[in-house]
Amino acid sequence: MKKLELLIALFAGTLSLAAYGQQPIVIKFSHVVAADTPKGKAAEMFARKAAELTKGRVKVEVYANSTLYKDKEEMEALQLGAVQMLAPSLAKFSPLGVKEFEVFDLPFIFSDYDALRKITNGPVGRQLLAKLEPKGIRGLAYWDNGFKSFSLNSPIRTPADLKGKKMRIQSSRVLEEQMRTLGALPLVMAFSEVYQALLTGVVDGTENPVSNLYTQKMHEVQKYLTLTEHGYLGYAVIVNKKFWDGLPGDIRAELEDAMEQSTHYANRIAKAENDADLEAVRKSGKTKVYVPTGEERLAFKRVLVSVHKKMEGRVGREVIQAVYRDTGFKPDSL
Ligand code: LMR
Repeated sequence: MKKLELLIALFAGTLSLAAYGQQPIVIKFSHVVAADTPKGKAAEMFARKAAELTKGRVKVEVYANSTLYKDKEEMEALQLGAVQMLAPSLAKFSPLGVKEFEVFDLPFIFSDYDALRKITNGPVGRQLLAKLEPKGIRGLAYWDNGFKSFSLNSPIRTPADLKGKKMRIQSSRVLEEQMRTLGALPLVMAFSEVYQALLTGVVDGTENPVSNLYTQKMHEVQKYLTLTEHGYLGYAVIVNKKFWDGLPGDIRAELEDAMEQSTHYANRIAKAENDADLEAVRKSGKTKVYVPTGEERLAFKRVLVSVHKKMEGRVGREVIQAVYRDTGFKPDSL
């Protein structure tokens, strides 16, 4: 190709820079769950869309299942620029010094995905992401997983059934308080270590959206799962700010488009993925799935809503009140 033709082709976007022999910009996207989960699938979708929209000028490499970094390491790796993109659970942001994110962990604070959306698509969600900027991190989007339920090797019908049980939690003080309120013993542990810990009895149980339980095969080492759906687990997609701000403007705009499309996809599939995995757990016959009655679930709610008040000093009264206001949640109406 002659030089002029080449320039025209590049300008018209019919030839990618990668095809011309230029190295694409690489985005390493590390996460800790299986590829076959809402987050895993959305990350792959982002990789495809980014390649398509930038015509190969960006290559997103997705590293699933903690193959690159485990929970704690990945945040450090992002800040150091060893990876460019992550989607950690909202329960894992306080080690960065942004404790307000733990508002998402407050038990029963979101009655459903609609209530949640009022926060993730509203001013509170935006203000929370803005708090990451001074840490050198830009928040791009919120991706759903789902609502967590308790699992154990003994039946769970009432809050008292968790008394004295060693329960694995993510690194969140709110989750720690939630377990203590139930009389359980919380143990912070990296996600990649939970299966082994359940297998060997280091912990007795845990809490998960079903997609995480199933794809890590935890149902093989937990005899009982009760669908308490007592708390939310979702993600913030974050990038190294210096890297992001340093991208050429047109590429950044295309990546923002890719992120928007992947976010719609993530939030569209999350519930169906969890439902399908619940069916698979049931079919496996390895875990007894129990659906609590309205009264039984209310008993959990009555006990656990006290965590909101107890954690006001930690999470911030203002952000809790803002979530109540925007979702219509009324803690006193129980
Ligand atoms: C967990 O550690 O349980 C979750 O944060 C894993 C995940 O990324 O969904």
